[in-house]
Amino acid sequence: MSTPARRPAPARRGGRGRSSRRPAPAGPDARGTELELEVGPIAHGGHCVARHEGRVVFVRHALPGERVLARVTEGAEGASFWRADAVRVLSADPDRVDPACPVAGPGLCGGCDFQHVAPARQRALKAAVVTEQFRRLAGLDVAVEVEEAPVADADGEGLRWRTRTQFAVDAEGRAGLRAHRSHQVVPLTDCPISTRAVTGSGVLGARFGNVATLEVAAGSDGAAPLVVVDPLPGTHAHVPKLSDASVAVRTPEGLHRVSGRTWVGERVTVRVGDTEREHAFRVGGAGFWQVHPAAPRLLGEAVLAALEPRAGEHALDLYSGVGLFTALLADAVGTEGTVLAVEGEERAVRDARRSLHEHPRVELWAGAVEEALGDDELTARRTDLVVLDPPRSGAGRVVVEAIAALAPRAVAYVACDPAALARDTASLAEHGYRLDGLRAFDLFPMTHHVECVARFVR
Ligand SMILES: C[S@@+](CC[C@H](N)C(=O)[O-])C[C@H]1O[C@@H](n2cnc3c(N)ncnc32)[C@H](O)[C@@H]1O
Repeated sequence: MSTPARRPAPARRGGRGRSSRRPAPAGPDARGTELELEVGPIAHGGHCVARHEGRVVFVRHALPGERVLARVTEGAEGASFWRADAVRVLSADPDRVDPACPVAGPGLCGGCDFQHVAPARQRALKAAVVTEQFRRLAGLDVAVEVEEAPVADADGEGLRWRTRTQFAVDAEGRAGLRAHRSHQVVPLTDCPISTRAVTGSGVLGARFGNVATLEVAAGSDGAAPLVVVDPLPGTHAHVPKLSDASVAVRTPEGLHRVSGRTWVGERVTVRVGDTEREHAFRVGGAGFWQVHPAAPRLLGEAVLAALEPRAGEHALDLYSGVGLFTALLADAVGTEGTVLAVEGEERAVRDARRSLHEHPRVELWAGAVEEALGDDELTARRTDLVVLDPPRSGAGRVVVEAIAALAPRAVAYVACDPAALARDTASLAEHGYRLDGLRAFDLFPMTHHVECVARFVR
């Protein structure tokens, strides 16, 4: 493996934040207004669409076809749309269930969107959203089934899957999650979608001082979880003793170790044909790793199935993180093939270097994908296969054009936002690549998020 760390540092990291689009205040505040609504179809973002006197109302905590009493949470009299919460259900859909979480519901924790929906129906709603985004943004009719991702020791379907959870800390030093589209922190004693390793780390119920947020990451190697603490700007964090976790504090200079390790160990077993192969990865600090324990295997196998790599081929892994797909592709193309991985976070590239040292034909570039794709050394190479797994905003037109110019035999696109994927699908089509397969996975149960893997061919 060669590792020329010569690319300029990248611009950005994958954000999965919420939209800042708010209806412009256009008259008297409508918050608190109660409306009786017939709820319409699901929309992207965890809400359904309803209409009231010609105005669109995005309603949370409802299901299509229900009749609800909804309370407006955002909007003014003259605004084009309002947001509202269903506070009373007047006629319930048969797929409505009691939330497994005591703080799920209007005005409470904003971490989940679909606690009130049976898991199979959640998947159907997500499939409808994927179909709608492709129709609207790519002009394509796609039929997709959202595949379940079972978790071995869950308390119930859709629970205890999140191996990485970022908590906010309130003014009294208690960890919790924010209410929907709000800065208000709802303190928690449990989070039923987080794994027991995360909730057992000791952060819930503890008191922190000068802490803004903290992230708990529990690896699959069985070691104690890592708690990465972000102090309030200009302060020193006070972290209580957490006996069942490693602790690190993020500082402008990097991660400061308080106790235990500053990284998380992950193991992934992937089936290729009749054989299973285990890979080990190191993920530093609160670096990127899929949050669902089944995700690395499901996505890894889906990428291999989409690309059908052959011995001796040359592959490109864009937005490669700590090298999950790089490792799988390196195995598949063998000693005659090559894999070039491009990742923006220097720390992730260092982690990949440690995990992939046994692969002599892997090259790791640290830098922005946009810039790497313009590099003469890269464009002069033969590229048979491309996998890309960009942040939530998608790859964008410039990156898509540069990928198409490399003329790969197949492209696998891993996407956490179906809207960004649909937009990039339209750009790929303009450059001669057609969608030749689409799978979707329920890797974020109880939330509106869905992960897709698309295959494109020339
Ligand atoms: C969704 S993660 C995928 C990581 C990896 N494929 C995996 O499955 O673990 C996206 C990655 O892209 C990186 N990234 C974001 N923007 C980038 C850019 N413009 N250039 C290079 N890397 C970028 C992030 O640091 C992050 O590691």
